[in-house]
Amino acid sequence: MTKSMQIKNNQLYLGKFPLSDLVRKYQTPLMVFDWAHIRERMNEFTEYTKSSLFSTRLVYASKAFLAPYFCVLMKEAGWWIDATSGGDLYIIEQSGFPLSRVVFHGNNKSTEELKVAVTKGVGIIVVDHIEELRKIVQLATQYRSEVNTMLRINPGIEAHTHYYIQTSLLSSKFGLSIEDAQGLEEIMQIYLHNPMVRLLGFHAHIGSQIIDVKPFVACARQMLEFSHHTEKLYHYPLRHLNLGGGFGIRYTDEEIDYGRLLSLLLNEINANLLSLSYQLDALYFEPGRAIVGEAGTTLYTVDYVKSIWGGKKYLFIDGGMTDNIRTALYQAKYRVANVNTSVSEKMIIADVVGKCCESGDIIAQDVEIPFPDQGDVLAVFSTGAYCYPMAMNYNGALRPAVIVVDGDQIEEVCRRETYQDLEKLFTKK
Ligand code: LLP
Repeated sequence: MTKSMQIKNNQLYLGKFPLSDLVRKYQTPLMVFDWAHIRERMNEFTEYTKSSLFSTRLVYASKAFLAPYFCVLMKEAGWWIDATSGGDLYIIEQSGFPLSRVVFHGNNKSTEELKVAVTKGVGIIVVDHIEELRKIVQLATQYRSEVNTMLRINPGIEAHTHYYIQTSLLSSKFGLSIEDAQGLEEIMQIYLHNPMVRLLGFHAHIGSQIIDVKPFVACARQMLEFSHHTEKLYHYPLRHLNLGGGFGIRYTDEEIDYGRLLSLLLNEINANLLSLSYQLDALYFEPGRAIVGEAGTTLYTVDYVKSIWGGKKYLFIDGGMTDNIRTALYQAKYRVANVNTSVSEKMIIADVVGKCCESGDIIAQDVEIPFPDQGDVLAVFSTGAYCYPMAMNYNGALRPAVIVVDGDQIEEVCRRETYQDLEKLFTKK
């Protein structure tokens, strides 16, 4: 449940709105964001990442959920936003968010994307490899633009999370290995000879949905030592460090104490800086999931309860892997509830599944809830991150509508897709 959710009169409410009323107005599947929850998370990150030794820059990892409405919030809060493609840059720019506060990521940025970043003054380009750096130098020279970059380093830290969302194994496709002194030498020579392209410092992101502070601490320690060492070795000021995102959220387990986790991490960082006598100007974090994940809830209608031979039961819902592929992809687990809490005393153990021609079209397995009636609405919690952005039209599925509830206000921030939207790319009848 999100921060503003509660049960009243046997109904699940978000603030003053019964979820069933929202469904009546916007239909299902529906994504609902609790704006107060997002603001509270942002405040926690702002509060607990402060230091007297450097300024902190908070970068919202927009891959978790990108919509213009979210960009406006980030703009007002003074946050930065990250982008992973020309498409992201386009949406961010169209929203009125200043590109000077954008961190541009990606292991394979096209020349066109880099050109946009260089000519439109994107704040920081995170360089993945030497060929990309050469291309940036060429573009910076061609367009006579100064460019700020960071270099992505792979510190080789194994975070205990799903294999697909670990990004810092030694075999990872991202960045330059921290062990690759020769690779670093070649890259530093380019920076030393091309002052138009400045290296502000290094970037590392070790993976996602990490709930233990230890890998973050290990990464911070390694990156601080590495930055400090490289600064001295090349007599090149490296006063910025970006430690990426990856802060986990509550799916089915315990709630996470971000104050505690971030304070522990910041204490370590401060202590390391003092013991190294290293002067850092700016430290960046890039939380995505931790900001929007728990604030989002997906609502689905139960169309049928099917019991198959042998007793196994399915709840057939009107969405599925097409709006949340995380279960199929990462064996994610979700809490599920009926928005009408007064339903039968009789419990059911069932798989909540979608309508695709795929056995893997599962949202949650072995869910134990009161036996729903046909037409009941299920709430699947903590779906705010990486569900809608990975949604697709497989089997002709339509992307759900997305609404934001903020006090008395409801905003529809993404309209429901239509059949006409499905047609829009076809060029011939
Ligand atoms: N910074 C960089 C460079 C990243 O690659 C990512 C996520 C983040 C920040 C934000 O990470 P977060 O704070 O949200 O964990 N689709 C997967 C997650 C992929 C994450 C990709 N990179 C999922 O649904 O779990």
